[in-house]
Amino acid sequence: MDRAGLLCIGHRGAMGHAPENTLSSFRKALELGVQCVEGDVYYVDGRLMVIHDDRLERTTNGSGYLLDHDFDTLRSLNAGEGERIPTLQEVFETVDLKAGVNIELKGANTVRPVAEFIAARRESGWRDDLILVSSFNHGELETIRGMDQHVKLGLLIAGPPADAAASAVALGAYSIHLSLKNIDREFIVHAHSCHLKVFVFTVNEPEDIQRVGALGADGVFTNYPERVLQHQKGRGSIGWV
Ligand code: G3P
Ligand code: MG
Repeated sequence: MDRAGLLCIGHRGAMGHAPENTLSSFRKALELGVQCVEGDVYYVDGRLMVIHDDRLERTTNGSGYLLDHDFDTLRSLNAGEGERIPTLQEVFETVDLKAGVNIELKGANTVRPVAEFIAARRESGWRDDLILVSSFNHGELETIRGMDQHVKLGLLIAGPPADAAASAVALGAYSIHLSLKNIDREFIVHAHSCHLKVFVFTVNEPEDIQRVGALGADGVFTNYPERVLQHQKGRGSIGWV
């Protein structure tokens, strides 16, 4: 295991404690002391909004497809405990350079607005080691790489990693993000030999946190950041380091 322990990435903020992908969830993750947070991003009615599903029912009091609604309607919805669906801008203002942010691209047409958003954030102090863009859609990562040579990229892999390391190297990616059910030590060693980080989702149970650390992964996405943080030994720095 990394001597400093696993990087703690708050999944959808700290969704074990607050409604997922809301400002209250991101505030909770920061309060617990995460090094990074992750949020899911759609491009809706000309805005980048932070929500996981392409439909509204599970996480809000609305119904139907997210993309069928205008911004004002979406903002009138309750996303849990009175929270609204936040914009990506609001999430960045809330995090306020106090943690790294993983923007996970969901849905269509996110690449250009996200590339423009990141370019604007650089002007306000967001260094490249504080932002990471990931997607299960590796074509979108290629497109964003074409627009931005410096942004950190993470390949999300739904199944076994197979040749993911080669794809990540070709893309100039920083990391590979694997499901807990698909990690193995051999792949992690190989990824590290390619200078890639391996982050694992979603790791909540103490025995899984121990196992993932023992296998040599670099970090975990977790709904319960405090459970990961208590295994760290002096990891102080925030962001993707
Ligand atoms: O980015 C890690 C994890 O969030 C990917 O899966 O479905 O939770 O967005 P999902
Ligand atoms: Mg996600």
